[in-house]
Amino acid sequence: MTPTVSPQQLVAAAQTARKRAYAPYSNYAVGAAVLTDNGDIILGCNVENASYGGTICAERVALTAAIAQGKRDLRAIAVVTVDGASPCGFCRQVMIELGAEMDVYISDEGSNFRSTTARALLPDAFGG
Ligand code: THU
Repeated sequence: MTPTVSPQQLVAAAQTARKRAYAPYSNYAVGAAVLTDNGDIILGCNVENASYGGTICAERVALTAAIAQGKRDLRAIAVVTVDGASPCGFCRQVMIELGAEMDVYISDEGSNFRSTTARALLPDAFGG
């Protein structure tokens, strides 16, 4: 964990991102925040589509945005939902691809969060 950004700060950033969710079909807003090796925080929210399969999860928006911004050493991701739900399987696979050693902080709307890792969320993952 980069010393300049605490897990609580990363969760707070994900809460900010969640307010930007575009979720008119499910009304289930998700926010994510990725922490890079140099302490940068990249935000993501879910972006839904009338063609439902075109929806992109908050985690993958944040993870892929980090890559697009030239970040390759991703240290942690925070995810915030109304009920503290776990990331979907698709997003777990992308976490393994882009930040296999990442810490993962999962939070509901309150200040409490639980801490896990990408590897714990997707044991025995397929990888190139
Ligand atoms: N969603 C995420 O953003 N992340 C997840 O890990 C699971 C689901 C979004 C997709 C959709 O916009 C809404 O939550 C309901 O499934």
